[in-house]
Amino acid sequence: MKFEIALSLLLVVLVGITIIQGCNGKAVQFIFGDSLSDNGNNNRLSMTLAKANLPYYGIDFGNGLPNGRFTNGRTVADIIGDSTGLPRPPAFLDPSIDEDVILENGVNYASGGGGILNETGTYFIQRLSLWKQIELFHGTTELITKKLGKQASDEFFQEARYVVALGSNDFINNYLMPVYRDSWTYNDETFVEYLMETLEKQLLVLHKLGARELMVFGLGPMGCIPLQRVLSTTGKCQDRANKLALSFNKAANNLLISLEPKLTNASFKFGDAYDVVDDVIRNPYKYGFTNADSPCCSLGRIRPALTCTPASTLCGDRTKYVFWDEYHPSDSANELIAKELIKKFGFTGVGSPSPAPESDIAPSPSND
Ligand SMILES: *[C@@H]1O[C@H](CO)[C@@H](O)[C@H](O)[C@H]1NC(C)=O
Ligand SMILES: *[C@@H]1O[C@H](CO)[C@@H](O)[C@H](O)[C@H]1NC(C)=O
Repeated sequence: MKFEIALSLLLVVLVGITIIQGCNGKAVQFIFGDSLSDNGNNNRLSMTLAKANLPYYGIDFGNGLPNGRFTNGRTVADIIGDSTGLPRPPAFLDPSIDEDVILENGVNYASGGGGILNETGTYFIQRLSLWKQIELFHGTTELITKKLGKQASDEFFQEARYVVALGSNDFINNYLMPVYRDSWTYNDETFVEYLMETLEKQLLVLHKLGARELMVFGLGPMGCIPLQRVLSTTGKCQDRANKLALSFNKAANNLLISLEPKLTNASFKFGDAYDVVDDVIRNPYKYGFTNADSPCCSLGRIRPALTCTPASTLCGDRTKYVFWDEYHPSDSANELIAKELIKKFGFTGVGSPSPAPESDIAPSPSND
């Protein structure tokens, strides 16, 4: 009886795999991002101060040990990739990465603390900025070209899907902090323009390296993350940060609309979940949340706690908190954000159900 169940499960899995491969060839994804998408890169940067290598990060993912994600469960990119039937790409710095792994799974270059600008997040000491991530991707294209030859390699990279999800740190860990030079060099308007000029150059390089189907994720109401609230005297959301997020989103949307028709075979799309997250924060109960203003993982009354640690205490029900730590949404909030983005990008999926987080094999936990 047990054997039959196991056999039919195996068949379901095999059929599932065939459907995905049948529809998509070998579609994989390449992810460029910050801590919202990092799945282990920073845990392998020895000097960085931005790490998710302590419990209780990852508590609702795989074996429950820290895996590099800055949340309790899945990231938005995990959930969107799952729902469109794509494999989860391993972290670029994962030592098990080689050409075969890349061809089967793609790569995730995302790094906590990273920004569109090189100068963002310098006080984390080490992080991969978007330019650096693109440089590493360039190296990946050369590696694959060496293995497959130019034509097959070009096809592989042109068929892949690309995610670019950065920008929050350019504000929170740069422009909005008076210790950074950008905060006195620019004003709200010229800083967003500077970000767009930089992002445009970066997207052009990605297109040149083969990116055709690309999504840029916009920013949420970053003035409402617990850290920003606790830094305001009233405990309310910081209006200026939210306005900056809205103007970033508007400008990025316009950039993508103007860029797409100029680039051969490009499907470059922008999507954000600002409105939904804003509504969740105002009306958490409507969405099944009970808390939308403080971190699930916190050091009691000591706030802001810079990171979640084994000395922290956890909220009673992690599915009912919008925020996992001072900066990052919980798995449940990420699911809501991902669903909104899927709607915005108009995905139909390839017919494979998204796996439950418990059934996933977590990347090997970091040893450092
Ligand atoms: C940003 O950093 C990259 C290296 O990662 C470098 O090649 C590039 O010139 C830098 N760009 C600027 C504008 O400083
Ligand atoms: C555009 O797509 C077509 C069909 O996939 C392909 O043959 C052609 O080489 C592509 N052009 C560029 C510049 O990528």
